[in-house]
Amino acid sequence: MKKENRKEKRGFARLLALTGCRRSLLVVASVLSALSALGMLVPYGAVYVVLRELLTTGSAGRQPDAGLMVHCGWLALVGLAAALLLLYASLMCSHVAAFRLLYGLRLRLADHIGRLSPGFLTSTSVGAVKKTMEHNVEKVETFVAHTIPDVVNVLSTVVFMFVIFFSLSLPLALVCLLAVVVAFALQYANFMGRRARSFTKAYFDAQERMSASAVEYVRGIQVVKMFGRSMFSLRRFHREILDYKTWALRVCDAYEGGMVAFSVLLGSVVTLLVPVGLLLLQGRPHDVALAVVWLFFIVMGPGVAAPVYKLMFLGGGTREIDEGVERLARIFAEQPLPEPATPQLPQTYDVEFRNVTFVYDRSCRANAAPALSHVSFRAPQGQVTALVGPSGSGKSTAASLIPRFWDVTGGAVLIGGVDVRSIATGQLMQLVGFVFQETFLFYDTLYANIAVGRPGATRAEVEQAARAACCNEFIERLPQGYDTLVGRGGVYLSGGEAQRVCVARAFLKNAPILVLDEATAFADADNEHRMQQALSHLARGKTVIVIAHRLASIAGAAQIVVLDGGRVVQTGRHTMLVAEPGVYRRMWQAYTEAGRWTLSTQPAAHERTSHIKEEKQ
Ligand SMILES: Nc1ncnc2c1ncn2[C@@H]1O[C@H](COP(=O)(O)OP(=O)(O)OP(=O)(O)O)[C@@H](O)[C@H]1O
Ligand SMILES: [Mg+2]
Repeated sequence: MKKENRKEKRGFARLLALTGCRRSLLVVASVLSALSALGMLVPYGAVYVVLRELLTTGSAGRQPDAGLMVHCGWLALVGLAAALLLLYASLMCSHVAAFRLLYGLRLRLADHIGRLSPGFLTSTSVGAVKKTMEHNVEKVETFVAHTIPDVVNVLSTVVFMFVIFFSLSLPLALVCLLAVVVAFALQYANFMGRRARSFTKAYFDAQERMSASAVEYVRGIQVVKMFGRSMFSLRRFHREILDYKTWALRVCDAYEGGMVAFSVLLGSVVTLLVPVGLLLLQGRPHDVALAVVWLFFIVMGPGVAAPVYKLMFLGGGTREIDEGVERLARIFAEQPLPEPATPQLPQTYDVEFRNVTFVYDRSCRANAAPALSHVSFRAPQGQVTALVGPSGSGKSTAASLIPRFWDVTGGAVLIGGVDVRSIATGQLMQLVGFVFQETFLFYDTLYANIAVGRPGATRAEVEQAARAACCNEFIERLPQGYDTLVGRGGVYLSGGEAQRVCVARAFLKNAPILVLDEATAFADADNEHRMQQALSHLARGKTVIVIAHRLASIAGAAQIVVLDGGRVVQTGRHTMLVAEPGVYRRMWQAYTEAGRWTLSTQPAAHERTSHIKEEKQ
């Protein structure tokens, strides 16, 4: 037992360890299920007694004892009824155990995910976590509530049957056992064969590809239609379906032989019992007791096939739960960012990046390109610092290191001279207000969506924040105003409106450090101007870090930090940066030129002259 504990737990044992659930209810469910299996065998016993009575009295020329036979009939009925009741009780227990386990599992998952770094959850892993929470958790329910009592029931049935068989006749019981063992061995060899295993893998891969292509086909239908690619897209989907069909047939083919052997062996127990019984009776033609046993085996022997079949299919469920638990364990294995042993609280709020290097994929750090390399700058309190740079230059990454969505790979991020890793997470979250590049609204009222910025804020404060972020106009136009639901069954907001709600949320939070990642990207010129004004009012005394592609909106910033390829390439004020050659001037030129662009079907002047030249030639 101790030896087992030291080993890494797998499957269901691991699940119990993960959820910290006690197994007492499951033990009760299993015992009841085993007793139910025993009850199901009572009719078998009754049949045996009836057979014995009929044959012994028949051979002695006596009348069979009718009372005994009626008694046996009743006994069989009572056994069956008791078995059903016990099964019902067992399923009740297993369902209660399953729901308790699920409750514990969901609670622990939610708690664990809540403690993980937000960076982990903003990356692609969210999809996997969602799938695990929805899908695998449900699988656990099926497994605990149904598969466990079923397996115990079926296993007990087989064991009890063989106990009865062996107590009656060793050779005949051996025949039954041999059939079961050989059938299982063949099936095992079949499933574990290299060919079948490689086919199964290819089959599951083809199935995954087919699902992915179906999803892509449906999700991209608008683009597909717009660009007239319906046939192309459908053809790809069709090809994946055909591929899946091919592998499905190959898998069937690979398993067919073994499955046929398995079914034939189990189904032909009687065929084996008849000659063996005859051989046994050959030497003892008057042995009525042996004849009774033989008859009993002929009637009951095939009964062993049903539970054995069931056992084989239940094995599939066990494999599935193993995989589900593996995925759950992977989430639980994800470590939250370490909390400081002696937390410190900064007294001032300027933000400093000190030689920061950051690599996203830590698992393959050796060959992963850093998103930030040796980034150093200081964003002083009471001023606006802008981060600019081409797309993918690492602006959002740098911003996300301030509230410790990730921990730096090298160097340090400091707030008021204190390393963010030395500030307790709760405190750090209080210090930083963040408007993300990608907006997120809860399925709740507009009011609740803003109020989440500061729990306990008064209605007047919420409305003031909404006004500052230019939300009030569109909110007040809605029939239910602030109490309008967002999303399904409520209103759908435009990109700019949703973004303004998120800005209002950050305004309400009123944290000493404010990070705005493209917070006004979708705003129209009028709204942007008003939001800028509100921001400059709100920013007084705060450290504000703004990321923007629209360079005009940050031209007035006290300091502009220019990033390119994860490195700081320039720092300074707008007037200084446009005067010197470099990334910023190029970006500014491109930005101002873009402002002069017009969409036209007429060729531009220089193109016209070249046309004329060509015509002349
Ligand atoms: N969650 C992530 N996992 C792995 N790599 C990432 C992740 N997020 C961003 N990256 C990579 O890090 C680099 C910097 O990305 P980042 O989002 O910081 O750029 P950005 O300057 O904000 O760009 P944009 O202006 O388009 O928003 C990119 O090469 C990107 O591919
Ligand atoms: Mg970004």
